[in-house]
Amino acid sequence: MDDVAVGPLDLAARVDDALAVQALAFGLTDDEIAVRRHIILRHLDCRGARALGATTPAGRLVGFVYGMPNDRAHWWSTVVEPYLRSAGLDHWLDDSFVITELHVHPAYQNRGIGRTLITRITDEADEPRSILSAIDTDSPARSLYRSLGYVDIARRVRFPSAPTPYAVMGAQLPLKRK
Ligand SMILES: CC(C)(COP(=O)(O)OP(=O)(O)OC[C@H]1O[C@@H](n2cnc3c(N)ncnc32)[C@H](O)[C@@H]1OP(=O)(O)O)[C@@H](O)C(=O)NCCC(=O)NCCS
Repeated sequence: MDDVAVGPLDLAARVDDALAVQALAFGLTDDEIAVRRHIILRHLDCRGARALGATTPAGRLVGFVYGMPNDRAHWWSTVVEPYLRSAGLDHWLDDSFVITELHVHPAYQNRGIGRTLITRITDEADEPRSILSAIDTDSPARSLYRSLGYVDIARRVRFPSAPTPYAVMGAQLPLKRK
């Protein structure tokens, strides 16, 4: 992690910096950035929404995570619910902290920043478990989540407007340590 510090992030104030990181890490078009901006700002009004950031000594944001307790009325939850219900696993939607976004700037990846961000935000959660969705492919994100104890609870999940299927993963909290 060198001199990158992880701590609470005022995501509303730093939303453009966070989206710049996400655009590089995940790939976003300008149109997608504008849409995500609205979504993030709306999410920050949700009960229990929290964010952590990774910043350099100069204050540059190089990674962030945010999430909130799951609410079955939220759009994400309504999309994944039928997949989980058909497998008898929709109890994962209750008492669960959702990781909504996790991104690390490519130049700062593979230094333990992503692991620190997600471990720290879930350590501070009151819920006994955590859920998230990730593109359903072998990726650094999927390896990281598996190593933290997340297991697949749904595969090939289709979000309207997303070109690729997602996997939904769930883990008991606290997350596994290395
Ligand atoms: C996923 C992501 C946040 C991980 O952040 P990071 O700071 O690079 O992760 P860490 O350095 O903490 O790595 C932790 C684990 O990730 C996995 N990982 C990281 N880079 C990897 C790579 N290139 N190939 C395979 N696994 C990798 C490993 O399991 C690693 O475990 P280790 O600590 O035992 O080596 C980052 O790769 C990223 O931003 N990716 C693009 C955006 C994205 O996919 N976000 C998630 C959306 S669901």
